[in-house]
Amino acid sequence: MTLQDKFQQLDKQNKALLAVNFYNFETLSAVLKAAAEQETAIILQSTKSTIDYLGLEVTANLARTAINQYGVKAWLHLDHAQDIDLIKQALDIGYDSVMIDASEKPIEENREITRKVVEMAEPYGANVEAELGYIAKLGQSKEKAAFTQPEEAKQFAEDTGIDALAVAIGSAHGFYDKEPDLDIELLSRIYKETPAALVLHGGSGIPDQQIQAAVRNGIRKINVATEVKNGFINTLRNELPQTNEIDLRKIFPSAINHVQHLLKDKLTMINQD
Ligand code: 13P
Repeated sequence: MTLQDKFQQLDKQNKALLAVNFYNFETLSAVLKAAAEQETAIILQSTKSTIDYLGLEVTANLARTAINQYGVKAWLHLDHAQDIDLIKQALDIGYDSVMIDASEKPIEENREITRKVVEMAEPYGANVEAELGYIAKLGQSKEKAAFTQPEEAKQFAEDTGIDALAVAIGSAHGFYDKEPDLDIELLSRIYKETPAALVLHGGSGIPDQQIQAAVRNGIRKINVATEVKNGFINTLRNELPQTNEIDLRKIFPSAINHVQHLLKDKLTMINQD
């Protein structure tokens, strides 16, 4: 099933998929183990930074092989790509889904480049996600409010033909300085207007009740990255001072388990009715 079809199915059920970033085999296996344990489908995401770190072939082939090994239904997604060449390479190597992030450009440019990516992805049958509005990236100000406007979202989705749209409704990447307060009313208005599947970026650190309200009001994909990095590294940070073990195959599993459990809890929370 394509991710586009899955989004249609989720829309009828008023449900969402978790989309989790991975960085190495350990975080990849943590995500897939959590999905296998919960018997749920999942989206695996990699950014340009991960591709720079692992190489595109390793990123794509490692993910594919691991998906088969763990017997999970999963789609491979390119997260926050700003470069058309990288998107083309990802499509060529078999990514199921790509995000073109031109959200920091003027809306006209965002529309143009997004339309190009939709055209490019069409022969591959791949899902295309774009972003409209301001969702603070790591290190950017969370104060600059430019929430997605329903009319604009509708027009943008119709003009570009995107399958999915990341909306700015009060979330931000990285951890929050104070508890986020998602604008659920705005989200429901965007949902009524736009034909694209709506995506919640900045899923780490959003209270469960707000995530569940977002899903009830139209979110179909929830992105989580920071909690994975944080959980993995902090587990290692706490354990390493207490051991002289140098066999990394004995050290990594506790970090993998930690991430697996935190994702399992998130999947349970998202799939609750
Ligand atoms: P977090 O930084 O909140 O985990 O968000 C991740 C994300 O949206 C990736 O696109």
